[in-house]
Amino acid sequence: MTIIAPSLLAADFSRLGEEIHRMEQGGASWLHLDIMDGIFVPNLSFGVPVVKSIRPVSKLFFDLHLMIQHPLDYIDVFADAGADAITFHLESQSDPEKTIEKIKSRGLKAGLSIKPNTPPEALLPYLSKLDLILVMSVEPGFGGQSFIPSALDKIRFLKNAAPSIDISVDGGINEKTASLCTEAGANVLVAGSYLFSAEDVKERISALGSL
Ligand code: DX5
Ligand code: ZN
Repeated sequence: MTIIAPSLLAADFSRLGEEIHRMEQGGASWLHLDIMDGIFVPNLSFGVPVVKSIRPVSKLFFDLHLMIQHPLDYIDVFADAGADAITFHLESQSDPEKTIEKIKSRGLKAGLSIKPNTPPEALLPYLSKLDLILVMSVEPGFGGQSFIPSALDKIRFLKNAAPSIDISVDGGINEKTASLCTEAGANVLVAGSYLFSAEDVKERISALGSL
């Protein structure tokens, strides 16, 4: 069963609660929350107060994607704010082992992500400790970009190396790219603009999930 994780970055931020309910009613089970610090990526998004405010209005699994330079320093505050899973970047400045341990010590699922230019082999030393891998299929920082096809070979490689870990893919997901990703072995699809621009969210979620 494919998990669909709408990326809140593409929501109308003046109506966050309603936007989250729209995704929940459309059949999403996760909510993907993109945290950016303007250093690791050339953009800013939102932080702890937003995660904390939306936590009580939703039962969705909060899948945090930290695109920040020093993730280890922020695990506690995001855990306190209500994260269910925290994914950080291998290219960040924090020690991967320590950061994974910290996430797990808070009882959360731990994920590690790679940018488009990072080879999947770089994740091999950490696979046995991870719950989730996030393959970026666009350069992190902005929604609405086109899918980079080389992500598919990475997904295949990682599925083969770690068949039981959740493999998530993020960036440029629509009904066409979704089927390529699930065929390659991804079981979590992150989609921002494709879902939040929809008139009928249910139809789009089932187009992603049933392929
Ligand atoms: C990009 C973010 C993505 C983004 C996806 O840095 O990590 O989650 O919101 O947006 P779409 O689905 O529009 O490519
Ligand atoms: Zn993301």
